[in-house]
Amino acid sequence: MDALEAKAKIEALKAEVEEHARRYYDEDAPTISDFEYDKLIHTLMDLENEFPQFRTPDSPTQHVGGRVSSMFTPVRHETPLASLADVFSHEELFAFGDRVAAAELSGPVQFDVEPKIDGLSIAVEYRGGKFYRGATRGDGETGEDVTENLRTIRSLPKELKNAPERVIVRGEVYMAKETFEALNRRFEVEGKPLLANPRNGAAGSLRQKDPKIAAERQLDLIVYDILFSTETYQTDAETLEAMKAMGFDVVPYKLYDNIRACVEQIEWIGEHRDAFRYEMDGAVIKLNGLAQREVMGRTAKVPRWAVAYKYPPERKPSVVRDIVVQVGRTGVLTPKAVIDPIRLAGTTVSNATLHNQDYIDKLDIRVGDTVIVQKAGEIIPQVVEVDRTKRPVGTVLPDACPECGSPVVRDEDGAAMRCTGAECPAQRLRNITHFASKDAMDIDGLGEAVVESLVGAGLVRNCADIYYLDAQTLAQLDRFGVKRAENLIAAIEASKQQGLARLLSAFGIRQVGAKAGKVLARRFPDLDALMSASEEELVSIGDIGPITAQYISDWFASPQSQHLIRLLREAGVSFESREEVADTRFAGKTFVLTGTLPSYTRDEAGAIIERFGGKVSGSVSRKTDYVLAGEAAGSKLTKAQSLGIPILDEAAFNEMIR
Ligand code: IVH
Repeated sequence: MDALEAKAKIEALKAEVEEHARRYYDEDAPTISDFEYDKLIHTLMDLENEFPQFRTPDSPTQHVGGRVSSMFTPVRHETPLASLADVFSHEELFAFGDRVAAAELSGPVQFDVEPKIDGLSIAVEYRGGKFYRGATRGDGETGEDVTENLRTIRSLPKELKNAPERVIVRGEVYMAKETFEALNRRFEVEGKPLLANPRNGAAGSLRQKDPKIAAERQLDLIVYDILFSTETYQTDAETLEAMKAMGFDVVPYKLYDNIRACVEQIEWIGEHRDAFRYEMDGAVIKLNGLAQREVMGRTAKVPRWAVAYKYPPERKPSVVRDIVVQVGRTGVLTPKAVIDPIRLAGTTVSNATLHNQDYIDKLDIRVGDTVIVQKAGEIIPQVVEVDRTKRPVGTVLPDACPECGSPVVRDEDGAAMRCTGAECPAQRLRNITHFASKDAMDIDGLGEAVVESLVGAGLVRNCADIYYLDAQTLAQLDRFGVKRAENLIAAIEASKQQGLARLLSAFGIRQVGAKAGKVLARRFPDLDALMSASEEELVSIGDIGPITAQYISDWFASPQSQHLIRLLREAGVSFESREEVADTRFAGKTFVLTGTLPSYTRDEAGAIIERFGGKVSGSVSRKTDYVLAGEAAGSKLTKAQSLGIPILDEAAFNEMIR
């Protein structure tokens, strides 16, 4: 990156960070997670280190975030409330350990590991053992006096035991996860706006003007540092124990003499985050010896004797049960995944945003998928990843039709999943469009768009309804007019004479298209003859297999089909075959010819058999239906006899073709 680019990038980052800081501190309404925010700051810091000429005093890296609001009386902190350097990796933790080691501190070195509570940092002062005043951290130098609100916190001792003459303690005001959930349940019933997350719940409550409201919010306090005391302490652990003895809730801590053990403890805390009453956004690792801390000193912004390890935002898997669409206030459609409920970053989550269509397409998210969910800005749950390895076979498609809600079943003989709804509007539309299409009834002007408007207007519910339309009604439809309406009516009228083959194909019976329609129409003179044929008869035609025969007879047996046929008949639709009806009496039969016949050559006899739909084969097998035997028949005759196949002489054959 050249200097010019770096300058532009630094300016853009500064503006971005400041905007997020404003949302966080002034509005208590962050839109990105702390993790993301910290990363932005770090990117900015790195760039400023590389190009120090562009570091300005007003950069967010040069002052501790947070501004003092004018709602409360400002309090100048006697001891500033510093913040910590954030680290995001184990390497950075070890680097911290190396820096401490390099300082060659005297005496044994110990580290204290604590959870980093995600609440609101405050300082509380006690004089003569009595709670005197409490203030928010603000910008670290000056905070807001929130004494009255703090007084409502039960875990804040109003009077200390074993109290030093004067003491200022630092801690975190937080809203317990269970309190947050209970409050939100109540707010929901009362129709009040919900708290976004426990941290915002705590911040918003502490900055209420009316202490009664703060009291209702049931906040808690946990402490981790003494900012000032008339007593002296040697170590952090001693400080923590002293605060415990005074009656405070003290942050849980553990001491270690090496960084590796600290890293393990940090990981352990991270894995057990759910079990804590409070939300945490990291773990803190501090040097235990207070004199050693002095030796380590501080940078302009943060102490060198501690770092905060930030956990990446919590991510958990769940299963998408449905994808629903929510219409927002501005009319924007937002797809949401309905997921199996999971506990995530302090709340129970049962749906997660999918943002928009592009996002769904990019991630290829489907119902039934196992997905990874994470909260954006620690507030809005979102699907961030699909676990393809867990994509179930066969359940990607829904078990209910998305159009009509009828059960979906898998075809016995294939992979297709089929809606079983007789009244399914999508099927209806496709059926009618197919009925009118080129290969079927070929009704000019009755394409999908027109069918859609006819169905939409309630004029057509099935294929037969087409024949009950009139030009007058059609002319009133959108984009129609008299001429077009008349043309369509004429095309519909003409289609009545298309004949059986096209009609059969128009019905949309499974596996019965234009070709099968023709085959059937060549065999049966009209629809009634076809309807009274048995499945065996259909199969005997030769080109119709047993499964298709079954589909045909099932279709005609259904009450809906019968209703449709009745309506078509009444409308005057021709059921007659227009094909030359063939005599297929030998359909499906195989003949073997052997020996010499008195009046036919073999070819002549074969031609007759084929004209009647039969087949001629050269050799006898179990599949042979007849052997036509003449003079001097040889081994084929013997074989037919042994297999019990009927043997015909010319006279019997003549009888069959009469
Ligand atoms: S120690 C100078 N310990 O995290 C050291 N801070 O950036 C002072 N926090 O604003 C901080 N839990 O509000 C410390 N166990 C803990 C903490 C903790 C939460 C907050 C604190 C501060 C921020 C550190």
